[in-house]
Amino acid sequence: MATHAPDSFTSPRYDTQRDQLAAYFDGTARKAWIDLTSDAKVSGIRATVRAGREEMRGVLLSMLPTDLRRKRLLDGGCGTGALAVEAAFRGAEITAVDIAGGLVEVARERAPQFLGHGKIDFRAGDFLDSGLGEFDHIVLMDSLIHYPLEDMVAALRALSQRCSGSIVFTFAPHTTMLGAMHKVGKLFPRSDRSPAIVPIAEERLEQALSQMDGWNIGRSQRVSSGFYTSHAMQLVRC
Ligand SMILES: C[S@@+](CC[C@H](N)C(=O)[O-])C[C@H]1O[C@@H](n2cnc3c(N)ncnc32)[C@H](O)[C@@H]1O
Repeated sequence: MATHAPDSFTSPRYDTQRDQLAAYFDGTARKAWIDLTSDAKVSGIRATVRAGREEMRGVLLSMLPTDLRRKRLLDGGCGTGALAVEAAFRGAEITAVDIAGGLVEVARERAPQFLGHGKIDFRAGDFLDSGLGEFDHIVLMDSLIHYPLEDMVAALRALSQRCSGSIVFTFAPHTTMLGAMHKVGKLFPRSDRSPAIVPIAEERLEQALSQMDGWNIGRSQRVSSGFYTSHAMQLVRC
C-alpha cells in the first residue's frame, strides 16, 4: 500500500487503530461496505443506516461552498467515493484518500469518467500525510468516528495547518444507546471485535476545538436514522 507515515501527528495508539481500520475495511467489512454504498438489497437495519448516511452526505456537502470550482478539497477516508463524486460535479479538485486501498480501487472504478469541471485524484494512504499537500476545504465523513477524542482533536489540528478555508467532519455523539453499545463491545475478546465507534461528548469536543487558534466552530447538525446516528460539525478559519 502506498502509505506515507503521517509526519505532522502520530502516536502508537493512532497508528494501531488506523492499521486495524485498514484491515477491517479491506477485509471483514469489505463486502458489507461495498453493498451498503451501492443500490444492492440490504437488511432493514442497514437500509436505515444507508438512508442516514445519504442524508449526512447532503448535510456535509451543504456545509461546503456551493461553487467549488478551482477549490482544492481533501476527502479524508473517502471509502467508495460517493461524496468525492458529488463534490467533483460542483467543480472541486479533489484528493480522495483512504487507508483501505481496496475501497479506493472500488471508488476509482465507480467514479464516472466525466466529472464536469471537477477532478478526483484517488490515493491509498493516511489522510494525515502532509505529502498530500494543502487544501481550501477538508471533509471527513465518519472517518474519525473510531478514534478517541484526543486523537480526533489532534488529527483536526494537524489537518488545520494545511487548510485555508473550512473543515467539515462528523463524530459519533454520546447517546445512551451508543454509550451502552461501546461498553458491551469491550466485553468481547479482542479478536472478535470490529473496531469500536467511540462516542464523543459534544461539549468536550467543542471545548477542545475552541482552543484551536484561528478557527471557529460554524454549523453543527445531527442526523439520526434508525441505527445510524452521526453529528456533523464545521470548523471555519477566522
Ligand atoms: C465509516 S468509513 C466512511 C467512508 C466514507 N467517508 C463514507 O462516508 O462513505 C471510514 C473510512 O475512514 C477510513 N480511515 C480511517 N482512518 C483513516 C486514516 N487515518 N487515513 C485514511 N483513511 C482512514 C477507513 O478506511 C474507512 O474507509
